[in-house]
Amino acid sequence: MTTRIEIAPGVVHHPGWLDRPAQEALLADLRAVVKAAPLFVPRMPRTGKPFSVRMSNCGALGWVSDEKGYRYQPAHPETGEPWPAMPDALLAAWQALGSYPHPPEACLINLYDATAKMSLHQDRDEDDLNAPVLSLSLGDTAVFRVGGTSRGGRTVSLKLQSGDALSFGGPARLAFHGIDRIIAGTSTLLPQGGRINLTLRRVTRPPP
Ligand code: SIN
Ligand code: FE2
Repeated sequence: MTTRIEIAPGVVHHPGWLDRPAQEALLADLRAVVKAAPLFVPRMPRTGKPFSVRMSNCGALGWVSDEKGYRYQPAHPETGEPWPAMPDALLAAWQALGSYPHPPEACLINLYDATAKMSLHQDRDEDDLNAPVLSLSLGDTAVFRVGGTSRGGRTVSLKLQSGDALSFGGPARLAFHGIDRIIAGTSTLLPQGGRINLTLRRVTRPPP
């Protein structure tokens, strides 16, 4: 039995969705992914200012950001190689929690050190906005903030712990969200500390 908490319409938190052995198995899968698709430092469109997180992706498409803008592309921006396949555990998570009949195409991997954050933003580079975004957290606890679909509205914050899943879809698909901070020392999963967040997305509109 897992707990399902609706934080706001369309924003659903599943605390402890992955138990410790499942977290360790997923981490092993991700080590293989980043060996093939090394972490890179994304940069802000136009200014080129580096993000504080490092990123990689798996799946048919990966999300990247640099001076030319935000986009999905089928190859790693530095190696030019296709992204590694999505581990089965991620496809299983999508099937269980995504409530969407087509598979995810992209899984963005964000690695946060103790000082990294992510400012409030919308995930809106996907053509298919009918699918939810499904997030899985590993490692140190994060203070996650989520609001409505317009900037500057009321927001709520909640802690995302190692093994938690969170989905935002339906009326919350374009909700502003971000990470205020990482709480160092809250998990023993990652030997060096820090946090990994995975976000699974459907990018293209499925065939009719
Ligand atoms: C993101 O919005 O891409 C990441 C959210 C998170 O780290 O939980
Ligand atoms: Fe996001």
